Amino acid sequence: MKPSAAETAALFAQIADNAAHAEESMRSDLAATLRGSDPLLAEVLNYALLGGGKRLRPLLTAISSRLCGKGDRQQLRLLAAAFEYLHTATLLHDDVLDHAENRRGRKSVVSQYGTAAAILAGDWLHARSMHLIGALAGPQALEVFCAATAGMVDGEFLQMRCVADPTVTEAHYLAVISKKTAGLISAACAVGALHGQGNSEQLAALTLYGEKIGLSFQIADDLLDYLGDEQATGKKVGNDFAEGKMTLPLIHALSRAEGQDKAELLHSIQGDRHSAACVIVRQVMNNLGSFIYCRQRAEEEMATGLAALSCFTEDNQQENVAILRRLAHYVLSRDR
Ligand code: IPE
Ligand code: IPE
Ligand code: MG
Ligand code: MG
Repeated sequence: MKPSAAETAALFAQIADNAAHAEESMRSDLAATLRGSDPLLAEVLNYALLGGGKRLRPLLTAISSRLCGKGDRQQLRLLAAAFEYLHTATLLHDDVLDHAENRRGRKSVVSQYGTAAAILAGDWLHARSMHLIGALAGPQALEVFCAATAGMVDGEFLQMRCVADPTVTEAHYLAVISKKTAGLISAACAVGALHGQGNSEQLAALTLYGEKIGLSFQIADDLLDYLGDEQATGKKVGNDFAEGKMTLPLIHALSRAEGQDKAELLHSIQGDRHSAACVIVRQVMNNLGSFIYCRQRAEEEMATGLAALSCFTEDNQQENVAILRRLAHYVLSRDR
């Protein structure tokens, strides 16, 4: 069942509260860790980390840990912040790969400071997040974290292989987004469960929940790239099409289109992919029901993710289960 307005308001309060904690932890960790470092490195990291963002991954870590029974404050906040470090590292590098000029409503790090700064600051964040996960959550958590990071790189390679390739299948797309996005979201939940000393059933449930909402998260992101409002998303709409990314709306439209529509799609994808072509493609997708299809697929993934939470039956677990439920719905209904 969809959350009520009051439940959504409660979720936003949780998100805001948790975001404030993540920021506090990052600020103090940066201040302590960067003492004596190059001032430009500190400037780039502050710019990258402290200028907005929904902070969903640290929220998932914190709630997963609490759900499994451990809600200690300082350590958990820093552990959760480590996932924001990792996420931000992927964004810095992703914006280099995607030639993205904007991020979180302002210039991306690569546009503001250049490629070298974006790569190096991303490397710093990778290293620091790995250190924090190992130190705060132990070797098993570090294993989960490293596997997710390696998978994310593989996912970006898989995606590159299929740029502007009209034969790409939905199965290939799901493999890409599982590796590049869902793996990290799932790891954020799993590491929370490990920190919270959850049992193996709880660990598996939260890992699956994270994987499934991660898939629906990326499908929603790919929809926003066609349908979103730049003021809200803080990034350029139409960038996926311009970059030749074979995301689900395009894959669906290609599988359904015939005649003139099909010719138009193929011509647009394999041409120079200017913004007028994107407008035509969006219209064809709309006519073919591609956006509706993507939303349904995202809802299916979300439903499987929610079903995974059924093992949490204790009364004292229901508050955190409710947050995870609302969060899953939010992932799909979000406009940013
Ligand atoms: C953007 O993630 C990258 C994707 C995996 C789609 P978010 O939408 O969580 O970005 P921020 O952190 O809120 O800016
Ligand atoms: C992001 O995918 C995946 C990452 C590994 C960061 P996108 O390329 O769709 O994310 P945005 O749209 O740039 O945020
Ligand atoms: Mg991108
Ligand atoms: Mg995107």
